[in-house]
Amino acid sequence: MSNDGVNAGRRRFLVAATSVVGAAGAVGAATPFVGSWFPSARAKAAGAPVKVNVSKIEAGQQMVAEWRGQPVFIVHRTEEILANLTKIADRMADPDSAASVQPEYVNKENRSIKPELLVLVGLCTHLGCSPTFRPEVAPADLGPDWVGGYFCPCHGSRYDLAGRVYKAQPAPLNLPVPPYSYETDEIIVIGVDQEKA
Ligand code: FES
Repeated sequence: MSNDGVNAGRRRFLVAATSVVGAAGAVGAATPFVGSWFPSARAKAAGAPVKVNVSKIEAGQQMVAEWRGQPVFIVHRTEEILANLTKIADRMADPDSAASVQPEYVNKENRSIKPELLVLVGLCTHLGCSPTFRPEVAPADLGPDWVGGYFCPCHGSRYDLAGRVYKAQPAPLNLPVPPYSYETDEIIVIGVDQEKA
């Protein structure tokens, strides 16, 4: 297609949205009245849970889902990414997420239920812009110490690949982690808390 590369962000969003519909469709197949199983736009805006199939996210990449009208970043983290989180902890403003927003059942350092899958509300804690996913190591514009993370285009706040904000940024807190749970190994439900083990 001639617009390859131009709309990559939009396309990723569409992939996520399609996956949500796919998950809902599997339920709907057993239901005779199609209109009865899919949450209305109003219900979704009000906070209905969103199911996302996370099995197709490539290692080191993210997809973007939508929950309560907000972008939700879902990242498949590699062993290397996870190892870097420990190495750069002393450069973070709130490395153990003591002051930041996340459910109590996520790990305080890597900020997830399963280490390999990161789930974040994609809105900067400064003034609410959506940070850009920058997974590269040491790109020219972000400098030699950059090991992958998020960069907010509005006022330059930097976050790592656990959504933790670096020290001395406009943003005061880490990106929030929404409530979520695993329905299966492949399907997460954003908006429904993980039950205690
Ligand atoms: S909104 Fe992100 S740095 Fe200001």
